[in-house]
Amino acid sequence: MELLDKLVIPQPEYNLVLLNYFLMLGLSIFFVYTGALYGSMILSVYFRGKSKGFNKYSFLTKDFADIATDKKSYGYGLGVVTFLSIIFIYAQLLHKVDIGVVSYLFISLILYMFGISSLFAYKNSLHLSNIFTNIKEQIVGKVPDATIDEIEEINQEATLSKGSTGTWGLVFMTISLWFFIGAVSLSANKPAWEGSSIITVLLSGRTLLNFTQFLVASFALTSVAFLFRKYYWEADRNHDSDEYTAYAKGLNSWIAIITLLIMPVFFLIGIFTTPKTSISPMFFVTTLLGVLAVFAAMHQVYGLLKNNNIGLIKYAFFLFIFAFAMLGIREKLAFSVANHDHVLVLNEEYKKHKADFLASMGVAEVKIDGAEVYKRCMACHRDEDSPTAPAHKNIMAKYLSQADPQAALVRFISNPVPVNPKWAPMPNQGLTPAEVKAVADYLIEKYSDKKEESSTPKDSVTALLK
Ligand code: HEC
Repeated sequence: MELLDKLVIPQPEYNLVLLNYFLMLGLSIFFVYTGALYGSMILSVYFRGKSKGFNKYSFLTKDFADIATDKKSYGYGLGVVTFLSIIFIYAQLLHKVDIGVVSYLFISLILYMFGISSLFAYKNSLHLSNIFTNIKEQIVGKVPDATIDEIEEINQEATLSKGSTGTWGLVFMTISLWFFIGAVSLSANKPAWEGSSIITVLLSGRTLLNFTQFLVASFALTSVAFLFRKYYWEADRNHDSDEYTAYAKGLNSWIAIITLLIMPVFFLIGIFTTPKTSISPMFFVTTLLGVLAVFAAMHQVYGLLKNNNIGLIKYAFFLFIFAFAMLGIREKLAFSVANHDHVLVLNEEYKKHKADFLASMGVAEVKIDGAEVYKRCMACHRDEDSPTAPAHKNIMAKYLSQADPQAALVRFISNPVPVNPKWAPMPNQGLTPAEVKAVADYLIEKYSDKKEESSTPKDSVTALLK
């Protein structure tokens, strides 16, 4: 992405490390939100096909669609904005690496926006259709049939046209996520960096595996979120019939248990499909934590199903969010290991960029020549003591014997104080800090060898000090 590449500002290593943490956070938020949206919408569209009027399937259609679409701002805040930050961070971290990750993410983003808009339109059409069906059921038999037909007609017009938005939304989402997961998988797989193309990326075993894993995790997340939200978080707002409640609880518990059972398998396969060069100890730690959290979550759901103890769902919910985040973090860890050398390259680039930038501002960090600066000092300081100033060879021993000769010299040269009444105090030379440092280094360099051989009597130095 040429455009993004231009926006990249070379960063020092410590910033790149920070960016890595932000990427971890971004990927976790993105995967959790998008997983909930994707899983719930697949189930909603599926049950929509089975629903008729007001049966249990039409309730499921609506309840699933509501899970991740409460407010439109969620879709944009947790989905699109997080997505954009992820792209920018990858552009920064992979700056100068010639792989398509950022371009693939960009394609994915565009499809994602189409997907999100369609899915929100779908959800709205469901609500509209619900309102119409509701009205119809209320007034049937009380008004002439012609009125009912008319209402039905408006209903069809308003909702049917949008009926396919759900399917389209899912199609966009699926392709978008395929690209997204392909790009993220590629970034963590350094051996594949060379000679990768969009086809090899999309069809690589790792991408397909990661995609399936994401899909399974999305269903698990959706069912756990369904139970959590409907029967725990918003339990007092729930006016469903007992029959529907029992059905929805059972269905979601089973989806959760089955998908949670499959998830550890993916965690484990992931170890073998991740290139060895990208594996670090933390990779195993996140894997272990993820698997443990999945098992613990499954245990809670099972308890819920067996003892009908809905309070357990909150543990299952948080444990599962944790497990899902571990997946994102693990993938990110693999990436930072793969990208480690490149971060060092970028760090060098940063140093160069900084020098160029400072030079362009006239604050050039060009090397200051201490010998050059010293020429000014020679106006007063000669090889031998003179009436104007002492010779440096006679005073340097005092500095060189200090713990930090440079600091001591810098302190004096940048702010001379009266030392020896034999001479007038030295006037401030008005040097820049960099020049002071350079000339101090020059003096140290010039006299440090002579310190040993020089016969400068220690006594005279101490005498001078007094
Ligand atoms: C205008 C004349 C003059 C110039 C130019 C000058 N000095 Fe000095 N410098 C002196 C005098 C006079 C002393 C003795 C001051 C005293 O003993 O109080 C001195 C003392 C020193 C001392 C010894 C201080 C001590 O602790 O005994 C150092 C080190 C020194 N100058 C460094 C420099 C450097 C480096 C430069 C050039 C950047 C420089 N001087 C330029 C006049 C000058």
